[in-house]
Amino acid sequence: MCGVVGYIGEKQVAPILIEGLSKLEYRGYDSAGVAILDGTEIKVRKYKGRMSILEEHLKEENIKGTLGIGHTRWATHGEPSDRNSHPHTNCSGSIALIHNGIIENYMKLKEWLIEINGDHFKSETDSEVIAHLIDYFYEGDLLDAVYKAIDKMEGAYAIGVICKDEPDKIIAVRKDSPLIVGIGENENFIASDIPALLKYTRNMYLIENDEVVLLTKDGIKIFNELRQIVKREVLKVTWDAQAAEKEGYTHFMMKEINEQPKGVHDTLHRRLDKEGNIVLDGIKITKEDLEKINKIYIVACGTAYHAGLVGKYAIEKFAKIPVEIDIASEFRYRDPFIDENTLFIAVSQSGETLDTLAALREAKRKGARILSIVNVVGSSVSRESDDVFYTWAGPEIAVASTKAYTTQLVSMYLVALHMAVTKGMLTDVQYKTYMEELKAIPEKIKKILGNTEKIQQLADAQFNNENVFYIGRGVDVAVAYEGSLKLKEISYIHSEAIAAGELKHGTIALVEQDRLIVALATQDKLYDKMLSNIQEVRARGAYVIAVAKEGNKEIEKVADKVIYIPDTLDELTPILSVIPLQIFSYYIAVARGCDVDKPKNLAKSVTVE
Ligand code: F6R
Repeated sequence: MCGVVGYIGEKQVAPILIEGLSKLEYRGYDSAGVAILDGTEIKVRKYKGRMSILEEHLKEENIKGTLGIGHTRWATHGEPSDRNSHPHTNCSGSIALIHNGIIENYMKLKEWLIEINGDHFKSETDSEVIAHLIDYFYEGDLLDAVYKAIDKMEGAYAIGVICKDEPDKIIAVRKDSPLIVGIGENENFIASDIPALLKYTRNMYLIENDEVVLLTKDGIKIFNELRQIVKREVLKVTWDAQAAEKEGYTHFMMKEINEQPKGVHDTLHRRLDKEGNIVLDGIKITKEDLEKINKIYIVACGTAYHAGLVGKYAIEKFAKIPVEIDIASEFRYRDPFIDENTLFIAVSQSGETLDTLAALREAKRKGARILSIVNVVGSSVSRESDDVFYTWAGPEIAVASTKAYTTQLVSMYLVALHMAVTKGMLTDVQYKTYMEELKAIPEKIKKILGNTEKIQQLADAQFNNENVFYIGRGVDVAVAYEGSLKLKEISYIHSEAIAAGELKHGTIALVEQDRLIVALATQDKLYDKMLSNIQEVRARGAYVIAVAKEGNKEIEKVADKVIYIPDTLDELTPILSVIPLQIFSYYIAVARGCDVDKPKNLAKSVTVE
């Protein structure tokens, strides 16, 4: 979490930092700040709250300078406040620093520094310790001082440092938190993520763990741990800067919901040859490899975990390989049984989620082969995997994931079908049926998106609820989890998802008059059972909105309202049934006056444990 940005060049730096921060605000928005070298003084301005507050102050003040760093914060150590905001400085204010990550041994370092120098700390953050540590080692060579400081630091960090006595440089370091360098002409940049720099350059270096970067206005040097220069290929970003703009939509979330037909289409069609066969370039798993794999773990967090639930269902059904699914933060600490015959599948939009990354490393350490399904090209998860399947969602900016989820689903289906075909588990007819249906999905999503009025009306009628349940059976349970998460994260309504058959074992005690229940009933073979479950909750006064496939009219007799999705195979319904749930959550959040794209307490990229 947190976003860092930095610039050195010939242009006025304040607007460049503001532009960068505005693109990084999705990483955290508790506070924002900048440090700019104005003549011989580093001016630090930082404020609690959204970036617009910082922007207003900077406009009024008009600070001049061509070297600066900026930060947008998601609070970990210390409440959101002006003084806990970044940049942090040493006592004299000659060094300024921005940090994304967590310094695990900061207490020890802080006590040590206080013992030597007295207590000059101004904030409660772990990050401020780094500024004081660099100051402690500084003897006229910032690069050397940074190397000495990071030698003492434990944890995760992407940092940017400037020093008033060395006005011609920025030093940046990466360890387990993302960092990129933008290459310009007579100017260079650092940032946490590509969109922050797209207005200025499309040429980037992806910085690796334990690398230190020295940026001047006309040069970039990347060093390894041993202070040796390393060579890096330039990454040319080909996607459009427009992809990170709202383009007329009020919120990124609605824009991204509407981009799903394209995302799903691209993710699918880029993997098909002329004959329509699946070709997975990034996956080198052979038939022999597959025969040896006796267990698959799918591990992820949040929405990506929900995509994994569908993945488990698809792989077991199509490829007949046992799959365990786990939440990344749990997997890592439960000593799972893994050997060289285990395939570990990590699912992640950002590819930077620390829990997922840590689980991946643990699985790798134990000998598993690592396959990742990732959206951000060149992200840490993708770089540390043996095989990579990129989703083609394009940049996802809204904190609530939508298009990343549906593209993860289509990726999971393709991986499952590919495994099934490689193992010879599907007949030609079965394979063709699945592929034809998958190809038809983008048009079916468009159909749902073309008819959202009823969903908006339902949201407008239901936005005052404070407790909602999502129920389903079979693969619908996975979608219920995702629908429930979407609602709670952007509207702050308490919601819970549960397998419909499990209700009677406890949760039905909470069903009372007018309790809103969203019931997914898309599975043909479980349809009658779902009708019974809906009747059970209706009998206790619940108000039921059902999601069913077109043509299944029977459900209108038992539910209060029905949202229909186009007909498709049972296995593939999640890509369609989640769409009305996303739209429902969106309109509820709008009706409640919530900040849809930036829900409170959340951040898009979760790079802390
Ligand atoms: C919810 C959401 C999160 C993410 C989770 C994992 O809408 O977006 O639950 O899915 O934080 O993030 P990634 O996919 O980047 O690993």
